[in-house]
Amino acid sequence: MVIRTVDLRSDTVTLPTKTMRAAMAGAEVDDDVLGFDPTASCLEAEMAKITGKEAALFVPSGTMGNLISVLVHCDVRGSEAILGDKCHIHLYENGGIATIGGVHPRPVKNNEDGTMDIGLVEAAIRDPQGEQFYPTTRLICLENTHANSGGKCLSVEYTDRVGELAKKYGLKLHIDGARIFNAETALGVPVGRLVRAADSASVCLSKGLGAPVGSVIVGSARFIAKARVLRKTLGGGMRQIGILCAAGLIALQENVGKLEQDHRKAKALAEGIAQIKGLKIDVASVETNIMYFDIEEGSNMTALKLRKKLEEHGILIMFDNSSRVRLVMHHQISEGDVQYTISCLKNAMAGLPEENGI
Ligand SMILES: Cc1ncc(COP(=O)(O)O)c(C=O)c1O
Repeated sequence: MVIRTVDLRSDTVTLPTKTMRAAMAGAEVDDDVLGFDPTASCLEAEMAKITGKEAALFVPSGTMGNLISVLVHCDVRGSEAILGDKCHIHLYENGGIATIGGVHPRPVKNNEDGTMDIGLVEAAIRDPQGEQFYPTTRLICLENTHANSGGKCLSVEYTDRVGELAKKYGLKLHIDGARIFNAETALGVPVGRLVRAADSASVCLSKGLGAPVGSVIVGSARFIAKARVLRKTLGGGMRQIGILCAAGLIALQENVGKLEQDHRKAKALAEGIAQIKGLKIDVASVETNIMYFDIEEGSNMTALKLRKKLEEHGILIMFDNSSRVRLVMHHQISEGDVQYTISCLKNAMAGLPEENGI
């Protein structure tokens, strides 16, 4: 019998806390499409302040935040955006920048630490002399933390260098900062500094920060004015969104501080996994709340079998392929849950009877 649930599939599974629900119930609201919702304005002002940008805009999702940002920067047909070949915008957003925005993606290899080699980025910038043949490079996109490489942080030095490169060629820089607060926590560098070199950033409230819905994009007042129009075009203009923004404000006030513990719990989980025969993980590579581990060849276990075995004990996981598993830590996983997960994983790999896993 399942006695507990440990949901490690993603930090997007976090449920709104009691304070969030109370704030949502009591939120002061008005029509935000008309620009009058006070709670939305409050959240936007707060995010603009935190990120050191002139203005901000609440959007329904990180996907829409990235799409709007790319479209504002690439508002001429035939624009090209340079981005990592393993970044979220390129892999997991339905190719929206191309199918909806008519923006040509120029993927550059992502290194294991989530960066792209600056030399490769520079080489990918199109020569304007060849405009008869080439799309026009207008944008570079970074992702911090970089989810697909296991939540790796991009340093401020690296981001600044990409920013300088963008400036040198008259390009814009967008940061998908879905988990930028995790980077702030792990690096000890304020979000405002991490995004200083960027013309825009998209910050998710519904990942580790635990709000039920929403992201906020930030940039210059001009950028946000254009973004507001595009949000409406895409169907993302919503009326009394103060209900959602109220939860976002609580996320900023109460949950940013919990990320440090999330990272500590992630490390403890990784250290436990490293001790299990048949599993392989690079503990040092776990910088924030996302980790990947591999099932060693010859262990007679597959990711699918492991997922099923763990599910019987209420532990939910996701996998990349038949031997690679992803776990994501968040504030609704306790230290006890971490130990329980390690013990269930150990028993599953040892092939012990199910009851012994508890
Ligand atoms: C790095 C990154 N960017 C963007 C998104 C998109 O966010 P949403 O699911 O809110 O569209 C995600 C979602 O998991 C993500 O991990």
